[in-house]
Amino acid sequence: MTAQTDPAQHDPAPAVANLETIVSLAKRRGFVFPSSEIYGGINAVWDYGPLGVELKNNVKRAWWRAMVQERDDIVGLDAGILMHPQVWVTSGHVESFTDPLVECRTDNRRFRLDELPGTERLSQTDLRDPRIVERLRLRCPVDGGELSPPRRFNLMFRTFMGPVEEDASVVYLRPETAQGAYVNFRNVQQSTRKKLPFGIAQVGKAFRNEITPGNFVFRTREFEQMEMQYFVRPERAAELFEEWLPRRHAWYLSYGVTPERLRYREHAPDELAHYARKAVDVEYRFPFGWKELEGVHNRGDWDLGRHAEASGENLSYFDPATNESFIPFIVETAAGADRAAFTFLIDAYREEVVRGEKRVSLALHPDLAPYKVAVLPLLKKRPEIVELCQKIVADLRTDMMAVYDDTASIGKLYRRQDEIGTPWCVTVDVDSLEDGALTIRQRDSMEQQRVPVEGVKRLFVDRLAAARSGI
Ligand code: GAP
Repeated sequence: MTAQTDPAQHDPAPAVANLETIVSLAKRRGFVFPSSEIYGGINAVWDYGPLGVELKNNVKRAWWRAMVQERDDIVGLDAGILMHPQVWVTSGHVESFTDPLVECRTDNRRFRLDELPGTERLSQTDLRDPRIVERLRLRCPVDGGELSPPRRFNLMFRTFMGPVEEDASVVYLRPETAQGAYVNFRNVQQSTRKKLPFGIAQVGKAFRNEITPGNFVFRTREFEQMEMQYFVRPERAAELFEEWLPRRHAWYLSYGVTPERLRYREHAPDELAHYARKAVDVEYRFPFGWKELEGVHNRGDWDLGRHAEASGENLSYFDPATNESFIPFIVETAAGADRAAFTFLIDAYREEVVRGEKRVSLALHPDLAPYKVAVLPLLKKRPEIVELCQKIVADLRTDMMAVYDDTASIGKLYRRQDEIGTPWCVTVDVDSLEDGALTIRQRDSMEQQRVPVEGVKRLFVDRLAAARSGI
């Protein structure tokens, strides 16, 4: 591990001091809205608006490109959200996917024990102590009331399949996408003839009935994961874990996240999830502290071993090179699409004063930016200028998200595009009609460049490709 691990030695300033700055920009510009707002909203569920859906789709595409498209050894999967309920018994989630919950005896408010003030430095062993509330004299952070001893609260959402609401028809909304890959291991391996090591990647919704969701889209009850399960020979698991961890860290860097705001944090033995032999989080310095962005886990043979035993199916792998049959180990990379999009949004936020005025911009990587190009007329009263703009935008749209806007003066239009992270603005002016050239303005440097109209699409396609490959 090379990234910084010791929080005491290293605590850079967050990209924004106050989370409210991002929440308000997100709402005002149409990135994220509270769900069902006209009914007062529903706690911890958010809707992605016109710009947010573009950003999140771009994050998912960038992940898929790096994890599937550009690799020989990883294939994709899209398994159902609802699975056979036995999956969650076998995987250990019915028994162990829990958080410690305490309840205020006065106002019945519920809290996650490990998020109460005064519990920051407690180990998982402490958190399992039934006398912990008494021992530390913990009180309700809202009204100072007495708190109940902790109990384990299962985070899985339950529902019923079919028309009868009885125990026999209980199913769960998946709390992780990973299990879809395990129960399909044999189908995928046999249909693709992949040899170890190989991976199954999946992007999809997951649901957790979090006790204390919050911090905007950081922790929600419905979210999307981007997970990859890498099946390996048992003796290679430790080595391949050490390869995946920096590779995943590097992915965030390649999309522009500030290196000082990323670090690794290894889970203590008593903190490990029930399936993990080793787990290291890639953490980001959010405005509310260092928090998990992605986890890399060595799950050993826990999942395939347990599913093989419970289903009675043979989930071992036959290695023709050595004539051996064995249950592969799994190295998992588990990221959140919402959390990654949130991180890119926060880290891209810039405020500066330009010619006496505040300029807000999002220095998003061009591949992640909702719009790649905005086409703006200098004089919207000249039909030939508007016509040329429309022609350019229509041409660009076959290859990328481009937008036309003439609803304000050029200065205001630039500021609007800066604030939503559009990397390039194209301005068509009176001269363009004579010399067949237009002006390209770069978001971060604000530099302007005159280029021929002819070939402008090629220029942006090339710039996007260059940004993607880090040129
Ligand atoms: N399959 C392993 C697994 O699910 P995890 O660390 O519990 O591991 C992986 O979750 C990632 O999913 C986290 O790093 C985070 O990015 C995202 N995630 C987990 N719970 C979330 C929540 N309640 N809201 C938003 N994202 C969440």
